[in-house]
Amino acid sequence: MAETSIMIADNGPYIVKGSVEMRDADGNAYTVHETFALCRCGGSTNKPYCDGTHSKIGFEGAERAVAESKPA
Ligand code: FES
Repeated sequence: MAETSIMIADNGPYIVKGSVEMRDADGNAYTVHETFALCRCGGSTNKPYCDGTHSKIGFEGAERAVAESKPA
């Protein structure tokens, strides 16, 4: 298993685990913990982190990895 992983939660955020560095578009570093959740629904008031809003707005995003999936 990789030392760093990203798990896509059903109808929820990206769960990032491991040692990572995260920066904004200007190159400024965020303070991150060993495990944190990134908003995938666009509704968080604490972006880029998930604040639980996805469950209040009924976000649906339950993608599964399939062989045809390719990075952009
Ligand atoms: S995924 Fe949780 S607030 Fe957007």
